[in-house]
Amino acid sequence: MSRILMVTSEAAPFAKTGGLADVLGALPPALVKLGEEVSVVMPRYGSVRIDGAERLAPEMPLSLGPRTFTAAIDQVEREGVRYLFVDCPPLYGRSGIYGEWGAEYLDNHIRFGALNLAALEIARKISPADIFHAHDWPAGLLAPYLRELYADDPALAGAKCVMTIHNLGYQGNFPGYLLPDLGLSSAVFTPRGLEFWGNINFLKAGIVWSDEITTVSPTYAQEIQTPQYGHGLDGVLRDRAAHITGILNGVDYAEWDPENDPHLQNHFSARNLSGKRFAKQALLREMKLPPNEKRPLIGIVSRFAGQKGFDLVAGIAPELAELDLAVAVLGSGEPLYEQMFRTLAEKYPQKFAVQIGYDEGLAHRIEAAADMFLMPSQYEPCGLSQMYSLRYGTVPIVRATGGLDDTVDESTGFKFSAYTPEALLDAIRLALTAWQDRKLWLERMRRGMAKDFSWEAAAAGYQRLYRNLVGPQV
Ligand code: ADP
Ligand code: GLC
Repeated sequence: MSRILMVTSEAAPFAKTGGLADVLGALPPALVKLGEEVSVVMPRYGSVRIDGAERLAPEMPLSLGPRTFTAAIDQVEREGVRYLFVDCPPLYGRSGIYGEWGAEYLDNHIRFGALNLAALEIARKISPADIFHAHDWPAGLLAPYLRELYADDPALAGAKCVMTIHNLGYQGNFPGYLLPDLGLSSAVFTPRGLEFWGNINFLKAGIVWSDEITTVSPTYAQEIQTPQYGHGLDGVLRDRAAHITGILNGVDYAEWDPENDPHLQNHFSARNLSGKRFAKQALLREMKLPPNEKRPLIGIVSRFAGQKGFDLVAGIAPELAELDLAVAVLGSGEPLYEQMFRTLAEKYPQKFAVQIGYDEGLAHRIEAAADMFLMPSQYEPCGLSQMYSLRYGTVPIVRATGGLDDTVDESTGFKFSAYTPEALLDAIRLALTAWQDRKLWLERMRRGMAKDFSWEAAAAGYQRLYRNLVGPQV
C-alpha cells in the first residue's frame, strides 16, 4: 500500500469542464479498491457544493513569493478516497474554474501555484504521501516546488512525483516576468527548466521535474513525442522518453450503464435493445427533430475547441444536409464553434438540432439515442465519449488519433486518418451504407457493447508504475 496524493483542478462530481474531472472521480476509488491509500487535493471553487465537509485545518498559511494566503482545508470522503479542498476565497471563491465569460482569470499562475504549495503543506501536516501524482498543467509546479523549495524537508524526503498529461494542448504559459510571484528563483528559468519561449510553462515544469510521466493512451504517448502532436514540447518529451508511459483511461460504468442509467426513461442492454428505440424517439421529440426513426441519428457531445475537429464538419455541412440523416449536438466552448452549430441548425432545421450549454442528463440521452457518435478530433489524448458510445450501442465514427485509435476498431466503429473534410465525409458515407444492413449493424453494435474499458485495468497500470517507483510499501 502506498500513500498517493493527487493534485488536480477538476474532479467529478465537484467541478468539471471535461474528461479530466471524470478521471479524477473514478481513478482514485479504483486505486483504493486495489489497496492504495489515495487523497485528492483540489481548490474549493465558489461552485463546489460539499455539504457536511469536515474541516481538517482552519488556517493553513501559504507563502507564495511576496504574498501569503491563508487557506482552510476541508475533507469529504467518497468511496474510500479523501477529497481535500483548499478553501481560500481570494483565490478560488469565484464562479469559474479557469475563468469567466470566455476570459481566463489573470491570476491563474498564482491560483494554481498556490494549489501546489497547499498540496505539499497538506502532505507535511495532514496527509503524508509516498507519491505525488500531478494532473495536467494546473499541477505542473508540484514537482519543482518539491525539489526546489522543499528539498531539505524531512517530512517529504523520498517522495516521488508522477505527472499525467491529459492534454498537451493546455500548458499553462505565463509571461516570464511573473516568476517572482511563484516563489521560484531565476535559476529554474532556463530552457532545461521551466522556461518556454520567454514564458513560464507549468506543464513543461511538470515534465522536467517529475520522476515519471504518463499520458492517457498508448498512442498519444507516442504522438506527443512528434512535432505534429507535440505542441512545441515534443523535444522535451523525447528527452524523457524512457520515463513516459501511456495508460488508457477507463470508463466509470456505474455512471455510464444503459441498463441502469437514471437519466434514461427506458433502459436497454445488448440482449434487449428496445429501450434504445424509445430513447431515440424521445430525443427526436426533445430536440425537435422530425420523428423519422428510419434515418440514422448522429450524436455529438463535446467541448467546442479546435482540438475536436469541428471545422471538418463545417467543411462538409452542405453534403451532410443532402444525406438521409439527422445530427443532434450538445456542447459549449469557443464562440466560433457555438455560432457554427447554431447556424447549421437554423439553416437545416430538419437535419441539425443543437443545444449550446453543459447538460449532464442530455449528454446521457444523446449517447443512448444516437445510432452513431461523431468525434473527428484533430488530436485526442484519450477521449471518453467514444467509450461511452460503445457501451450504449452507438457506433463511433472517429479520426484515428490518440485514444480514439486505441479504443475503436473496424469491427466496432468507423475510422478515418487524414485530417480533411473529404476523409470525414467518406467515413460518414461508409457508416451510412453499413447502416442499411440491419443485421450486420446490430452485430457491430453488440461487439461495441461487449467491450470492457473498466477502470480496474487502468488502475492496475498506475499501481505498477507506483510500485516501480517506491516498491510495494506495507
Ligand atoms: P475532453 O476531456 O477533451 O473534453 P473527453 O471525451 O475525455 O474529452 O471527456 C468529455 C466529458 O465531458 C464526457 O464525460 C462528456 O460527456 C462530457 N461533456 C462534454 N461536453 C459536455 C456538455 N456540453 N454537456 C455535458 N457533458 C459534456
Ligand atoms: C483531456 C483530453 C481527453 C481525455 C481527458 C481525460 O481533456 O482532451 O482526450 O479523455 O483529458 O484524460
